[in-house]
Amino acid sequence: MSLETLLAVLADGEFHSGDELGGVLGVSRTAVWKQLKKVEELGLPLESIKGKGYCIKDGLDLLSAPAIQKGLSAEISSLISDIDVRGVIDSTSVAAMEKAVQGEKGYICTAEQQTAGRGRRGRAWASPYASNLYFSVVWEFGGGAASLEGLSLAVGVAVVDALEKSGLTGSQLKWPNDVLYQGRKLAGVLLEMTGDPSGRCHVVIGVGLNVSMPKSVSIDQPWIDVMSVNEGAANRNQLLVAILNELMPLLSSFEGQGFNAYRDRWQSLDAFAETEVAMTLGSDIVVGKAIGVDGTGAIIIETASGVRKFNGGEVSLRATG
Ligand code: BTN
Repeated sequence: MSLETLLAVLADGEFHSGDELGGVLGVSRTAVWKQLKKVEELGLPLESIKGKGYCIKDGLDLLSAPAIQKGLSAEISSLISDIDVRGVIDSTSVAAMEKAVQGEKGYICTAEQQTAGRGRRGRAWASPYASNLYFSVVWEFGGGAASLEGLSLAVGVAVVDALEKSGLTGSQLKWPNDVLYQGRKLAGVLLEMTGDPSGRCHVVIGVGLNVSMPKSVSIDQPWIDVMSVNEGAANRNQLLVAILNELMPLLSSFEGQGFNAYRDRWQSLDAFAETEVAMTLGSDIVVGKAIGVDGTGAIIIETASGVRKFNGGEVSLRATG
């Protein structure tokens, strides 16, 4: 019996006796008990009451490949080669990178949990079981790194647009691609590339969206989840569909259009527009006023010694004013 099968039964939030679970799953009570231990190890709120059995309080909203596929239009589906829904994985971007190296455009990997979720600048990305959205998409570009300029910013726009269409309005973007709500991090985007930097290459677009983060998870920056802003919007399968509806057309048209097509929208969502900021580049700190982004997605900062522009990379930005 796989842990996934047990979780699928407990997902309804009802009590199930040990005998019932053993019967449904075709294993002994001892085998059920061992798997129940693993449920607890995942950090899920497993309750056990003598005479009633076991239950996961409030149930689980599990990812479902059929539910995701059903929500996508024929046009969007035609851009996807496979939607790989996993249980526990190290990182969806690691799985996607394996496909990228093999040249599989349109592969999507999503998972209930990541044990080694990666954030920007070497940070970890908190990825508890069945709580949030973690997914990675592989796309192919013919024009190398130059054709990717501003892509990560445009992906941020796609995430915000999808959230708005799902009923969560008012989120903003922090350069280059953090999605914030009232200054707290709601989603993050991580782009990784393989192939020829000056020719045909594949990009893994990894997106993490906090949907219903358990309060027990410790995160080293202010964060928020969809559930706390609009409970009605906190359905992971629907949110993934909404994001893919924005993201897939963006990926298929980006090389032709470039970031310029998304620049105005990005600037209208800029959390730091006209704000005093400090930009850290290694041991250097540049201070000034953020005045938006250019047509390649570089941030423009007015400093005492003139206007400066910065592309992505190992830089970090914070507001000081
Ligand atoms: C950031 O630091 O803001 C970027 C976070 C990106 C997290 C996502 S979750 C899905 C994909 N898999 C990973 O390991 N990271 C990305």
